[in-house]
Amino acid sequence: MSLNSLAAIPPYVFYELDARRQRHRAAGKSLIDVGIGSPDGPIPDVVIEAMQRVAADRALSGYPQFRAHPAYMAAVSGYLDTRFGVTIDPATELHALAGSKEGIAELILSHTNPGDVVLVPEVYYPVYARATLLAGAVPVFVPFLPDGRLDLEAVAPADLAKARVLIVNYPGNPTTSTITLDEFARLVSFAEQQALLLISDLAYSELSFDGYRVPSVLQVPGASRVAVEMHTCSKSFNMAGVRIAFVAGKRAAIAQLDAYRSNIGYGVSTIAQLAGAAAFTHHEAIVPPIVAEYRARRDAMVQAFQAGGWDVHAPAATMYLWLPVPAGCDDWGWVDALMEGPGVVVTPGIAFGEAGRGRFRVSLVQPADVLTTAAAAITSIAAALSAS
Ligand SMILES: Cc1ncc(COP(=O)(O)O)c(C=O)c1O
Repeated sequence: MSLNSLAAIPPYVFYELDARRQRHRAAGKSLIDVGIGSPDGPIPDVVIEAMQRVAADRALSGYPQFRAHPAYMAAVSGYLDTRFGVTIDPATELHALAGSKEGIAELILSHTNPGDVVLVPEVYYPVYARATLLAGAVPVFVPFLPDGRLDLEAVAPADLAKARVLIVNYPGNPTTSTITLDEFARLVSFAEQQALLLISDLAYSELSFDGYRVPSVLQVPGASRVAVEMHTCSKSFNMAGVRIAFVAGKRAAIAQLDAYRSNIGYGVSTIAQLAGAAAFTHHEAIVPPIVAEYRARRDAMVQAFQAGGWDVHAPAATMYLWLPVPAGCDDWGWVDALMEGPGVVVTPGIAFGEAGRGRFRVSLVQPADVLTTAAAAITSIAAALSAS
């Protein structure tokens, strides 16, 4: 990374959103914040107890292992096996991470040279493109097909020739698009043919509804020849502040990441790893109430939008609604109208790339009644703007 690559990166839209939110708060405005996707639910008790135990254990106060604590390795392996039927060798096919965001950045930084291409979905979680730019590499945006799959045929041959990495994110933030195992198989064979590292970002692995179960790319036979998958405790277990995640899959990619990480830091906090171990060990008990809460919120908000005349469908996964900005408004104009009027904070679609323009994201991080109020306020502002 050079200072030039840092200077070339446009300002982070979430920073700008935060600045606007702070200005309104400082002026005494009360806000309903459904902008950032930070879970508002409590850390599970079993996780809190684990953290307390670790914090008090003198034997655990030294530097953590570089790759992962043995208890974290065991818990993650058990989770991948019971949840997906996937078997890994945790000593070589797993790395603990202090959140999947920085893990994705580290993978990109450790797998690209300046001028290489990283294939990124056209609407994307910002770190995919930003870490690519920090590496001096070039993000090339892959359009979506109408069904939410990536239109890989649309990538220009010249870009494909320089591509080293393909990142995919299903269930998608902010798109809420889901994926089948067959589609993962198509992505694996594309990555194999093109000699790409396939990074599957599975941040919303457990947040799915109505019978849809999120598959893992590692379920595809032979996937670990080309793919790694990012998992995080942030969303599934209400643990965004704990900063614990992992990457599993292609051995050589994980060795490369380990080499990169060990030059700039130590292993992930032991408290965080053993908190994560507790969460993954007890995932079958922890997840259902969290999913039930998001489902109730999703249904309440979708109904409120429909009651306001909006054509909104309930997504099968994630903790978001991805909605069109009313005709005649631009992204920031709409975000400002909502903040200044009813005091609802939403995320503009351009936070997720140029192709996100014209949409906005609502995070289901407030109780159902608050979301209902927010949806009613949004639909009435939209009606007032279209009448004016
Ligand atoms: C798609 C996606 N990937 C990764 C992350 C980052 O998660 P973590 O808290 O593990 O860094 C998020 C957070 O919103 C996300 O939406």
